[in-house]
Amino acid sequence: MNRFENKVALVTGSSQGIGAACALRLASEGADVIFNGRTLDERGEGLMKQVTDMGRKAHFLEADVSKIQNVVKLVQDAIAVYGHLDILVNNAGVEKNNDFWNVTEEEYDFVMDTNLKGVFFGIQAFVKYCKDQQRPGVIVNMSSVHEEIVFPHFAAYCASKGALKMLTRNLATELAPLNMRVNNVAPGAIATPINQKLLNNKEQLDNLLENIPMRKMGTPEDVAALVAFLCSDDAKYVTGSTYFVDGGLTYHYEEQ
Ligand code: NAI
Ligand code: BGC
Repeated sequence: MNRFENKVALVTGSSQGIGAACALRLASEGADVIFNGRTLDERGEGLMKQVTDMGRKAHFLEADVSKIQNVVKLVQDAIAVYGHLDILVNNAGVEKNNDFWNVTEEEYDFVMDTNLKGVFFGIQAFVKYCKDQQRPGVIVNMSSVHEEIVFPHFAAYCASKGALKMLTRNLATELAPLNMRVNNVAPGAIATPINQKLLNNKEQLDNLLENIPMRKMGTPEDVAALVAFLCSDDAKYVTGSTYFVDGGLTYHYEEQ
């Protein structure tokens, strides 16, 4: 099924992990995709080849999305690459582990500028384009279960994802008259490089798995499947909410 025939999608932070899986999934259903990362390396080259092998077009735009001027230029360049842009997946995200009382301004800015400011102004650039051109547009933000549940020692990360929750609620109302939809995807524990330390620490990993009713981590492809649904016309009446892909982690209950 080619749900994204003639659609162009920009996925931020897509040279690895969840973003890479999202870009590949969208391409597998017909989209031409624009990858993004701070720099194009062999992984990016390999991902683009996978897309062109599927018979779709692929392009890579280098940009650090934590800087407003870069993220705005990224969206503008993405529009220019194939002449239009239909889907924006704000996936790039970072986290910093530190006790709240030791968090520095630099750490705070690193997390908030990437996870919130870049998303906010990237969406703004996309909305201006869709509004000016009177084109519909779809936005998916990669939030986290931690827009909802606590993650001690990751206060800035939780603040950024909690803010994405309200940003999406708010924008759904403002953007609906423009024929634009916006939703969040909230992954639980997904096996990607962001979790490398956890994956290398058996005790920590076992503790985490005890809190996941399905007793396993998810895959980037599990997340990409949900993103693809929300980007597609199957979700044409879906806006302003968060959809969890977490093996049951968020609302689990430990039976005694
Ligand atoms: P990852 O660390 O494997 O990938 C993140 C990607 O974003 C990397 O390619 C990185 O280079 C890119 N990136 C980071 N900052 C950037 C910037 N300023 N400009 C451009 N690119 C940048 O992490 P993963 O797991 O794939 O995470 C993707 C998203 O999913 C993040 O927003 C993360 O918060 C979210 N998430 C991940 C979960 C997990 O368990 N892996 C769970 C919940 C949410
Ligand atoms: C974090 C991961 C964490 C997962 C489950 C994600 O938002 O990025 O580090 O393992 O949530 O707690």
